[in-house]
Amino acid sequence: MDKIRIHGGVPLRGAIQVSGSKNAALPILISSILAETPCTFRRVPDLQDVRTTFQLLSHLGMTAQFDALQGRAVLHAPATISCEAPYDLVRKMRASVVVLGPLLARFGRAKVSLPGGCAIGARPINFHLSALEKLGAKIELEGGYVIASARKLKGARVGLEFPSVGATENAMMAAVLAEGDSILENCAREPEIMDLAGALRAMGAKIEGDGTEAIRIQGVSSLHGCDYQVMGDRIEAGTYLAAGLATGGQVRVDGLGAPELESVLVKFEEAGATVVRNESFVEVAAGGRPRATDVTTLPFPGFPTDMQAQFMALMAVAEGTSVIKETIFENRFMHVPELSRLGADITIRGNTAVVKGKRQLKGAPLMATDLRASASLVVAGLCAEGETLVNRVYHLDRGYERIEEKLRALGARVERVK
Ligand code: EPZ
Repeated sequence: MDKIRIHGGVPLRGAIQVSGSKNAALPILISSILAETPCTFRRVPDLQDVRTTFQLLSHLGMTAQFDALQGRAVLHAPATISCEAPYDLVRKMRASVVVLGPLLARFGRAKVSLPGGCAIGARPINFHLSALEKLGAKIELEGGYVIASARKLKGARVGLEFPSVGATENAMMAAVLAEGDSILENCAREPEIMDLAGALRAMGAKIEGDGTEAIRIQGVSSLHGCDYQVMGDRIEAGTYLAAGLATGGQVRVDGLGAPELESVLVKFEEAGATVVRNESFVEVAAGGRPRATDVTTLPFPGFPTDMQAQFMALMAVAEGTSVIKETIFENRFMHVPELSRLGADITIRGNTAVVKGKRQLKGAPLMATDLRASASLVVAGLCAEGETLVNRVYHLDRGYERIEEKLRALGARVERVK
């Protein structure tokens, strides 16, 4: 199994290009189920989760071509496909459950495995299912599968109990081909939702209000192919910026706008960084040792849970004590015992971590547990003295494209070892 070896202590300096967003690309690729003619997507990142999505769509009987070097995918769902997403694929990647909405909307049926729990929390899909029921789907649970059917989905008012990203995506993709108008309320406002809406509009969907809590959709009878470019990955960008600051360096990330990252940039500033915001890049420079800064994760536009672990790595070397509260997932502190192995002083009380900053961390062998936890170990390893070996790198490969290459471009001493 691959490992990443880091010789820490080098301040990162330079610029890198951000990849296409994983969390936008996955539902956008899946949305091609809805279109009657082929869809071309650009800036698709070459990630393990993207490869799993192609596997899933091919399994359904779609044609899928991916030019990984160009980041170009062409997908086509013929008039009849299989509507079953098996356990083996859904287990590998929970985002697979967003095939439910588009399969139901275009083909009137879907059989999708329940994903089960995962490393960061229970993550049920009850909000997805109740939204689809409100749009007229009949849902049964049998043998670990969701079996959903609807002769024709009907537009409706759908209020989500919580602004769940996945439930908003499933409801949007169902409503675009429903008969009549829908209003989705208490929706997730994440930029990735707006990107999905952009892709659906490019296919001919009528959607307004994405990016706000109420999304209005006028159902249409069919959708066509499109040519659409996926947005830049704000979490990948935030991770490299955090690494720049933790190492006392200066890093610019090209290929995404500052507004998507604002809640994180504000916290970097509070921690003493200088931030340059631009429409197409973001740059941060460390102003000496970071200052302790408290953070609470919230749905967008709040501080993203997907940056919590990396921010904690930064706080592990800050001056003073910071309090980091995780409100989105109930078990997202798996990185804490590993950060402690580097000498970090972190205490967990319920959903809150109290981080007493240390002047210096010391390298050690570590175990990656989930995607963002792994990213935080890399950030910490980059500023720790000596060698850090991060095991189980496959977690990182789910969400960070060519991570060693990008880090080396910033001057990091990093290599992948077999
Ligand atoms: C998306 O997951 C992202 N994944 C996650 O990124 C991200 O952490 C999360 O949104 C929050 O921003 C993708 O976009 C592929 P939710 P999702 O539904 O859609 C509870 C990463 O590291 N909930 O907004 O699954 C749920 O358990 C990943 O890139 C229910 O209770 O997140 C959680 O506590 C990890 N019932 C909260 O809501 C439901 O039916 C938010 O989940 C749905 C969700």
